[in-house]
Amino acid sequence: MDSRQIKTRGVFTGLVLALCIFFLWAGPGLASDDLDDFIGADSCLGCHDGYEEKFDHTLHGRAFSKETSYYENRCEYCHGSGDEHEDDPSEDNIVTFGKDGVSEVDDRNRQCLNCHDSNRGIAMWQGSRHQKEDMACDSCHSAHKGYDPVDRSPESCYTCHLDIKVDSLKQSRHPIREGKVGCGSCHNPHGTMSDHMITDDHTNDLCFKCHADKRGPYMFEHSPVEEDCSICHTPHGSRHKKLLVQRTPSLCQNCHMGSHTSPRAWDQSAGFNGSNPSNLLPI
Ligand code: HEC
Ligand code: HEC
Ligand code: HEC
Ligand code: HEC
Ligand code: HEC
Ligand code: HEC
Ligand code: HEC
Ligand code: HEC
Ligand code: HEC
Repeated sequence: MDSRQIKTRGVFTGLVLALCIFFLWAGPGLASDDLDDFIGADSCLGCHDGYEEKFDHTLHGRAFSKETSYYENRCEYCHGSGDEHEDDPSEDNIVTFGKDGVSEVDDRNRQCLNCHDSNRGIAMWQGSRHQKEDMACDSCHSAHKGYDPVDRSPESCYTCHLDIKVDSLKQSRHPIREGKVGCGSCHNPHGTMSDHMITDDHTNDLCFKCHADKRGPYMFEHSPVEEDCSICHTPHGSRHKKLLVQRTPSLCQNCHMGSHTSPRAWDQSAGFNGSNPSNLLPI
């Protein structure tokens, strides 16, 4: 007895429930995820010529290869059931992706999350800035272009974050253009527990990953350094040397003013790495 027959038994409750579910969760014409409604990839390929060759060479294609149980229905795990679409081909009764896709973002993302929601890297997606901005997984990922669904280049981010691109061209900057540091070195675009989707709990922990020499402990700590590197540094690029948010000595003068400080506090020749005992004590 297959599941279709089981369904027809509780026809009254079943029908009411199904209708509720349909109106609550499914938009009109939304392709179903029910395996029973899958028509199989061979049917898709009968009309969509050329997709097999390209798709089967992608990472997903390999993951859904002949040896796996995915193979037979490999198109529909992402595009949803083609049951209705086969009888009446339209972009409204299949899940569409990409720039020309017409499906709602939630409907697209659910297809991907069906398999990937247990992935640790995207555990914080719900509530992340990008999710709140209603972004689709396929605004950054592809499935038929090239082997890898992931584009790690900063260019993939610059399409929307032009201001960061401008920063990356400034005189002092992280070596992003050289490929030594990527956006992913500091951010998880799927969201994190921290502000600005950075990959550590605190900015300083992030910076220490690569600038371990700044961690200390130092005999003489400079309290703003312990508090937050970004009091003095900006991460992406700056017109001032060493990624400083402001020129020295103005930067120092924000806090060191009047008679409390030796004017030598901002003497650049003194060096400034926190480990020095105060060689700046009034002479
Ligand atoms: C009977 C032929 C036929 C079958 C079978 C079929 N399609 Fe289509 N499909 C079409 C046609 C024709 C269109 C264009 C409809 C339009 O533009 O309104 C289309 C459109 C699409 C689109 C939207 C294209 C776009 O430009 O965004 C996707 C995605 C799609 N089909 C995927 C599938 C998948 C996956 C299957 C298998 C489950 C499938 N199709 C089965 C004929 C078919
Ligand atoms: C039927 C399950 C399934 C669906 C649906 C699915 N994927 Fe995947 N995806 C996989 C598998 C299996 C891999 C192979 C690597 C792995 O095991 O993580 C993979 C790999 C990936 C990778 C690369 C992972 C890496 O470590 O490099 C990305 C990115 C990805 N998928 C995004 C998506 C997106 C975006 C969608 C929706 C358009 C989607 N996936 C739909 C199963 C799925
Ligand atoms: C803003 C762009 C962006 C969006 C939106 C996005 N991703 Fe990603 N995704 C990336 C980048 C970049 C990587 C590579 C991260 C790295 O390795 O540094 C990645 C990696 C992945 C990986 C594999 C590696 C990992 O972290 O486990 C999976 C799976 C994945 N994304 C799935 C998804 C799914 C599902 C969605 C939608 C819910 C989504 N992504 C939305 C950019 C994005
Ligand atoms: C891992 C998820 C996934 C699988 C599996 C998948 N697709 Fe797609 N499909 C996408 C995404 C995402 C796009 C948007 C274009 C892109 O990113 O490459 C797309 C776009 C399309 C389009 C619209 C035209 C275009 O190229 O933009 C058609 C038609 C299509 N897919 C058919 C298929 C067929 C046929 C199969 C099975 C052989 C299949 N897809 C398997 C995710 C998938
Ligand atoms: C399709 C457009 C788009 C793409 C592509 C995109 N983003 Fe975003 N991102 C946004 C929008 C919109 C916001 C919210 C407004 C803002 O802060 O600019 C945002 C915000 C952010 C934030 C700030 C989060 C916060 O809480 O302040 C970070 C960090 C970020 N994106 C990183 C990335 C990275 C890294 C990539 C590339 C992997 C990327 N974005 C690709 C649209 C995009
Ligand atoms: C060296 C670490 C690092 C790298 C590399 C990095 N970021 Fe950031 N990013 C940060 C930190 C830290 C913040 C928090 C804001 C601040 O302190 O100014 C931030 C904030 C942001 C924001 C939100 C606030 C703003 O300034 O608009 C966006 C968007 C952003 N980053 C995008 C990107 C993109 C895109 C890339 C790759 C081109 C990238 N970041 C590379 C560390 C980094
Ligand atoms: C993924 C590694 C990485 C992380 C994380 C990182 N940096 Fe860097 N940083 C670098 C590299 C690589 C350079 C270039 C070093 C060189 O050229 O010798 C650099 C250079 C710098 C410079 C000198 C820039 C110049 O113009 O000479 C400053 C200042 C700096 N980083 C501050 C920070 C701060 C603040 C953080 C935390 C928000 C941070 N970095 C996080 C790798 C990193
Ligand atoms: C009170 C302001 C201030 C704070 C806070 C601060 N820095 Fe700096 N940092 C500077 C100044 C000024 C320079 C330039 C020194 C010079 O001219 O060589 C500098 C230079 C640097 C450099 C490049 C030169 C070198 O020594 O490698 C790095 C890397 C750096 N800082 C990392 C950090 C990190 C990581 C933090 C947080 C733990 C931090 N800074 C906090 C003021 C600050
Ligand atoms: C955000 C505020 C802030 C900024 C900006 C700042 N400082 Fe400080 N600085 C402090 C505080 C707070 C102390 C600790 C004062 C105390 O313990 O009496 C301190 C202590 C010092 C001391 C030790 C003084 C002594 O007599 O031992 C020196 C040297 C110093 N700062 C130099 C600088 C320099 C150089 C800059 C600019 C690159 C700078 N500071 C920027 C807040 C700041």
